[in-house]
Amino acid sequence: MQITILYGSSAGATQNVAEQIAENLSAHEIKLLDINKAQIEDLQEAKVLILGTSTWGDGDLQDDWDDFSSNLDLIDFRGKKVAFFGLGDQDSYYDTFVDAMGILYETINKKGATIIAGGIEAEGYDFGSSRAFIDGKFIGLAIDEDNQSNLTSSRIAQWSKLLESQL
Ligand SMILES: Cc1cc2nc3c(=O)[nH]c(=O)nc-3n(C[C@H](O)[C@H](O)[C@H](O)COP(=O)(O)O)c2cc1C
Repeated sequence: MQITILYGSSAGATQNVAEQIAENLSAHEIKLLDINKAQIEDLQEAKVLILGTSTWGDGDLQDDWDDFSSNLDLIDFRGKKVAFFGLGDQDSYYDTFVDAMGILYETINKKGATIIAGGIEAEGYDFGSSRAFIDGKFIGLAIDEDNQSNLTSSRIAQWSKLLESQL
């Protein structure tokens, strides 16, 4: 199964997590790409997409995703399986924790994608609100390298297994 992982990362943390996800899914053919180098075709051709973004500003999309986001309108997501991961800082940004993952989700869910690897419990996190937290669950994998880096590898491993079970 070919899986395309696209990430936007301003200081490298999301890129690191994207690489760890790729390692966890190494049984599959992985295409790992920075969104600042991606073409619309990279998304159009993919059947399974994993999209990762950090959150900047006050609940904003990472810059490279922001630049790319108007292209999302040009892509037909019907028939594609899409999963999300997001990086944020739940301590300093308590009320906008991983919001950017929620922004991507809102856009792509509307366009008919089949969302996979969602429904993640918030146990172990301590945040006030998040656009990525819907009906009491995260819509994808939330990672906090600023405060909980000790939990990152186990969160990734568990999530990657969930994702694989839904391919
Ligand atoms: C100026 C600034 C604004 C930020 N805003 C948010 C935010 O609104 N919500 C959040 O969850 N994290 C926020 N963060 C935390 C980053 O998302 C986090 O450090 C992330 O790991 C950065 O990933 P990157 O290096 O891949 O860009 C912010 C960080 C900085 C420095």
